Amino acid sequence: MTVERDQVLAAHFDAFHLARDRSPLVSALYADAMGDGYPVDVAPYSSCDWTVLGALVAGLRVRPGGVVADVGCGTGGAGLWLARALQAGLVGVDVSPAAVRIASARRARFGMTGRARFTVGTLEATGLPDGSVDGVVCVDALANAGDRVQALAEMRRIVQPGGRLVMTRAGTGGLRDRVVEQAAAAGLDVEDVQKRPDEPAMWGRLYRLWRARAGELREAVGEDQAAGMLREAERMLPRLEGRVALLVTLRRPGPPVAR
Ligand SMILES: C[S@@+](CC[C@H](N)C(=O)[O-])C[C@H]1O[C@@H](n2cnc3c(N)ncnc32)[C@H](O)[C@@H]1O
Repeated sequence: MTVERDQVLAAHFDAFHLARDRSPLVSALYADAMGDGYPVDVAPYSSCDWTVLGALVAGLRVRPGGVVADVGCGTGGAGLWLARALQAGLVGVDVSPAAVRIASARRARFGMTGRARFTVGTLEATGLPDGSVDGVVCVDALANAGDRVQALAEMRRIVQPGGRLVMTRAGTGGLRDRVVEQAAAAGLDVEDVQKRPDEPAMWGRLYRLWRARAGELREAVGEDQAAGMLREAERMLPRLEGRVALLVTLRRPGPPVAR
């Protein structure tokens, strides 16, 4: 990842997060699309519904007092909810300084002020020390990495031996094989891969809502952001048929180190 690419990504996602933070409309549309699967406190801009949260808890196996890293954490809801549920500490990493500011301001609402911190970094270079966390989550972010194997190797570096990485992946047919190849190339064992067959339909509902409410969306997030969202809807709607969504649990080999 080059410094220039990081800066472009940071500016892109700053605009994305600041626009969405200005209005409740975008979250309301995610809530409509997910129905009762929508975790209101978390308020994700992703596929992070109750099923994903449950899988993150079950997959990580982090003990109370451990530390979880949420990479590509966005505005922090998933990591804060998860660390609170596990009685763990949290370090969230995102390329967007605006996301990091918004996430930091949400800590008190989760009772996590002293136990969570958010920092600017990338998936490929988090800035966290070697083996400093007990588990890693990455929700709907790995696709943005310039080099996915490098991003997975970075997650392997920061988690202690024996620690788990739980992440969402989405793509076209053959995704499962690519996930297995990338994990092996990054020195990670594949522990579990689950299909999320209902996820593409959720995106379909969301994209149709964006389209149907385009005028309100423009007022809520501004012309540029709304145009980007509508382009995404037009690009993705025809591709949802045949799209595969997975929940993947990987493990850094080796015996856990006593801490
Ligand atoms: C779809 S959002 C998901 C946010 C969060 N995980 C959630 O579930 O709500 C993707 C996030 O990844 C971040 N991101 C994208 N590319 C990144 C990179 N290369 N390094 C770190 N963060 C990145 C974006 O700023 C954004 O917050």
